Amino acid sequence: MGYPNQQALLIISTFIIVPFLTYYITTILFHRNARSRARGKTPSTAPYYVPGIFHAFGLANTGPQKYFAQLIKEYGNFAPFYVKAGPQGLLIVREPIQVTEVLAASNAGAYIQALDKLFGLPPSALDLYNGNGVSDTVKVAFEKALVKPTQRHLTGTALVDNMETYISVLSANMNNKMFQVGTWTQIEDTWSFLQQVITRCTLESLFGTDLFKQYPGVVRDYWEFADATEGFVPGLPRYWVPSAASQVRDRLLEGLERWLKVNHSGSEFARIVDEDPTWDERKGSKLIQERDALFAGLKGIDLRGRAVELLSIMHEANSNTFPRVFWTLVELLRTPQLAKDLATRIDRYRPSQGAAYNISAITDLPLIDSLLAETTRLRVASIVAHIPSQSLKIGDHWLVPRNTPILMFSHDLALDTKAWEKARPSSVEKPLEDYWAERFILPNRSGSKANQRGQRNDASASLFSMEDLEPLNITMGRSQSLLLGKYYVRTLHAATLAILLSEFELQLCDPDLFDAVVPPVRETAFGMVKPLEKVAIRIRKHTKSGK
Ligand SMILES: *[C@@H]1O[C@H](CO)[C@@H](O)[C@H](O)[C@H]1NC(C)=O
Ligand SMILES: *[C@@H]1O[C@H](CO)[C@@H](O)[C@H](O)[C@H]1NC(C)=O
Ligand SMILES: *[C@@H]1O[C@H](CO)[C@@H](O)[C@H](O)[C@H]1NC(C)=O
Ligand SMILES: *[C@@H]1O[C@H](CO)[C@@H](O)[C@H](O)[C@H]1NC(C)=O
Repeated sequence: MGYPNQQALLIISTFIIVPFLTYYITTILFHRNARSRARGKTPSTAPYYVPGIFHAFGLANTGPQKYFAQLIKEYGNFAPFYVKAGPQGLLIVREPIQVTEVLAASNAGAYIQALDKLFGLPPSALDLYNGNGVSDTVKVAFEKALVKPTQRHLTGTALVDNMETYISVLSANMNNKMFQVGTWTQIEDTWSFLQQVITRCTLESLFGTDLFKQYPGVVRDYWEFADATEGFVPGLPRYWVPSAASQVRDRLLEGLERWLKVNHSGSEFARIVDEDPTWDERKGSKLIQERDALFAGLKGIDLRGRAVELLSIMHEANSNTFPRVFWTLVELLRTPQLAKDLATRIDRYRPSQGAAYNISAITDLPLIDSLLAETTRLRVASIVAHIPSQSLKIGDHWLVPRNTPILMFSHDLALDTKAWEKARPSSVEKPLEDYWAERFILPNRSGSKANQRGQRNDASASLFSMEDLEPLNITMGRSQSLLLGKYYVRTLHAATLAILLSEFELQLCDPDLFDAVVPPVRETAFGMVKPLEKVAIRIRKHTKSGK
């Protein structure tokens, strides 16, 4: 009789009492360390139940996006703290000052991890990215391949040329859709519709139409890849990348390789001369051709390496632009008067039907900049990672051991009312949980009385400004590689709005239901912000025959 009872006791103590005790003790230690005024202390691990496993179950079951948000809700006031996926610890940092300190020390380590674990960069190419055992000549050639084509093609007037291509592709695509003048057409699922259209047009303007011939499923596969990998956390071991993600990733790389083999090999393709056009309908943009030719000439990069580079460009272009355009557009449509004013301002920079848009002037409209900044703040939840190669002091008290992956979340800073209020009091006149299109607009102080309160903000009487607020903007991680440069997303966002608002009339079908489709901001720490339900709009062509 006694024996089974003992066993039961043993089981109870192992599975209930030990975890309970562990939790109790780690909670006490956690708070004691957080309160301690010692200098140079190492952050503690957030309380856990099972030693050795730590937070691995929670991370796996809930997914990192939600799980980090839960931990932040519970222990956020005591950050920085470790979350441990088994033996691997990840440090969560939240205080704006500490985030700035981490970013100041950041390097390309987290980006290279993404290339390796997410994009499938071959190990032979990793040395090149890490700079291990690479000769100076190769290093210089590699830097050139990374930086030169982007500088040459995505700044100044060349950027404008590239955007005009995108605009004509997008305009043609939208006008092929049989929308009517006068009669409304209803789009039931605006997210899917715009995702399809914008991705197609972005890819066409970068890669040309031959890509779709070699790889008809590229748009669908790309979004499957993006969805499967949105929970990726640099610093977590490779087996945390879902196998579905690696499968679709390999399909994408094979498709890109097919295209490279058929259309980008032999002696012809690398001969790119100054007279070549910025864009060729079949070959795509000169930027991509030139960049790929430089990579193809590098020792250490094979066909797979070139395909990885193309996939990471595709990812940067699509994941950064489409969600921003979607949210800016639907948020704008909630305030029809503002949408109308913006359309009028855009029209000033396109004096007649058929004339080219003055894309630099449209991109510079303060309201468009403010919309982009507000969308990025509230509707884009990024994770920024840094893996310091030296131990790092943060704040007055903490010392982070080297090689610790440090994680920071853009939403964390985006919703930190105290920090915003301190940086610029007028920025929190409306709560940070709300979308406020004009949050970043300041009156032009050197302007006249024209812009006193209550009067409409006019382009000449108001300014877009991020002054004092920069430390609270970490969306892209300052030193993570920007493959497409810092102007691409901003210009493409403005160009897309210009086409949609000035060539079409758009209305939300159910403005009253809109609040219910917006995901609650504090429930996921990062990951793509998608509407919870379908958002329907109605659309018709503008009547502008007289213009
Ligand atoms: C790409 O390859 C296809 C198939 O060989 C060919 O028809 C097409 O003309 C090529 N495109 C270019 C721009 O050379
Ligand atoms: C675009 O607009 C800006 C600002 O109004 C102006 O300075 C520039 O000359 C215009 N560019 C073209 C090509 O019309
Ligand atoms: C601000 O107002 C002054 C005076 O009206 C004007 O000269 C200046 O161009 C304005 N600045 C901007 C960026 O609109
Ligand atoms: C926020 O930071 C990113 C990355 O540094 C930068 O590209 C972007 O322009 C910034 N946004 C604003 C509105 O300043």
